[in-house]
Amino acid sequence: MPDWTALKECGLFDALSESGREQFLPPGIFYWSGRAKKEADINATIGSAWGPAGEIGQQGASTTFYLPSLHTGFAGISPEQVFSYAPILGVASFRQTWREWILEKCRPSGRELADLISTPAVASGITGGIASVAGLFVTPGESITLPDRYWGNYNNVLVRNIGARITTYPFYDGKDFNVAAMKTAVDESLASQGKAVVLLNFPNNPTGFTPTAATAQQIAQALEQSAVESGKWVIAMCDDAYEGFTYTRDCLQHSIFAEIAGKRGVLAVKLDGISKEFLWYGGRVGCITFAVPETMVPRKDLVTGELEEKLSAVIRSSISNCNHPVQEIVADGIRDKLGALLAERARVIDVLAKRWEVYNREMEKADLAVLKPLASNSGFFALVDLVSAKAEEVAEILMTTHRVGVVPIAASGRQSLRIAFCSVPQENIPKMVDAVFAAAAEASRR
Ligand SMILES: Cc1ncc(COP(=O)(O)O)c(C=O)c1O
Repeated sequence: MPDWTALKECGLFDALSESGREQFLPPGIFYWSGRAKKEADINATIGSAWGPAGEIGQQGASTTFYLPSLHTGFAGISPEQVFSYAPILGVASFRQTWREWILEKCRPSGRELADLISTPAVASGITGGIASVAGLFVTPGESITLPDRYWGNYNNVLVRNIGARITTYPFYDGKDFNVAAMKTAVDESLASQGKAVVLLNFPNNPTGFTPTAATAQQIAQALEQSAVESGKWVIAMCDDAYEGFTYTRDCLQHSIFAEIAGKRGVLAVKLDGISKEFLWYGGRVGCITFAVPETMVPRKDLVTGELEEKLSAVIRSSISNCNHPVQEIVADGIRDKLGALLAERARVIDVLAKRWEVYNREMEKADLAVLKPLASNSGFFALVDLVSAKAEEVAEILMTTHRVGVVPIAASGRQSLRIAFCSVPQENIPKMVDAVFAAAAEASRR
């Protein structure tokens, strides 16, 4: 944490609120991605898909991957759709279209969700959605239950801003998700407070892991069992930022929200959006969708209506409302040219799948006495645990000796490297993995 010398010297530090004093942006990802931009030839720090424009059928230099049909959407919208305020909970046509998109995405689950889910409310990205929902359900000091591999920004969103405690359980049981550990953690949470708030994120950042359909069903059943046995609500927040980016057939192809929705005693909350799903990171449109237990279907509209009223208050008093033109363009895109959007996105998924394959093939050569690659099958990242070296030290060697940028993670007593293969062109992946081996071995010898 910085020492805030200038603020202290002029006395303004003392004028800050308790929360203001606590605020700081952990340097991790920004520090390493800032350095990688300047110093690295291979930049595996950034959580956005990037590469040669030719790989997405476009001309020109390397670019952040995007969907061309959304880009052309700008030409077709009126000044009224561009310049006026969006409603607090989002543009009606966008909300309705996104609801249909959720039903379409979850359709292969075979579950009928239409009776269970609310109309999505628009948040400022998924980050905004997580903050708004967590703020509604978590009182400072209460716990949110997470696996021990999680996106570092949850610490800021949930702990520093909301005052939640994060309680973790082991993510993996071998090469699978640890359902039993999750259940124990949820039961402990229910024993100590009036509800449990659980946050699940598949495909996961930082591991790149998604469970199988069978494991996902076990997760959903475990949450239901905990809720029913305790007689208390389980709020199951599903951070679906990377939904759709799966690279094997055996992992769950849709959001775990579809499995959890409708379970007794569980309020499932879907947090998704255009940032990764439609490769529109800067659009800042995320969605919050509730699913009530099946037993509550007759009262669904009343219950979700009141939850939306609460959300309106939270959104109006924090960000006021979200980006208007982007909602219009995405609504038009999903309604009128979903086929083209999905084909364009499939091309990106295909590029990332090949990178993931090459990454895994190369990682098979890892010296397991030095580093352990973790099971992955989806998303934008892969994670390796270091056996005896410090993550920062390996990242430093990678940057200075090999000109490769990765994000070191020291959390839950482990030293790991997060490798964003999403932003590394395939031809560079073998070189990058060799560099990781060499740097980890060198740091282990020190
Ligand atoms: C797990 C996870 N959730 C949410 C987000 C943020 O999404 P958004 O850009 O929509 O706020 C990210 C982005 O890195 C992420 O990795």
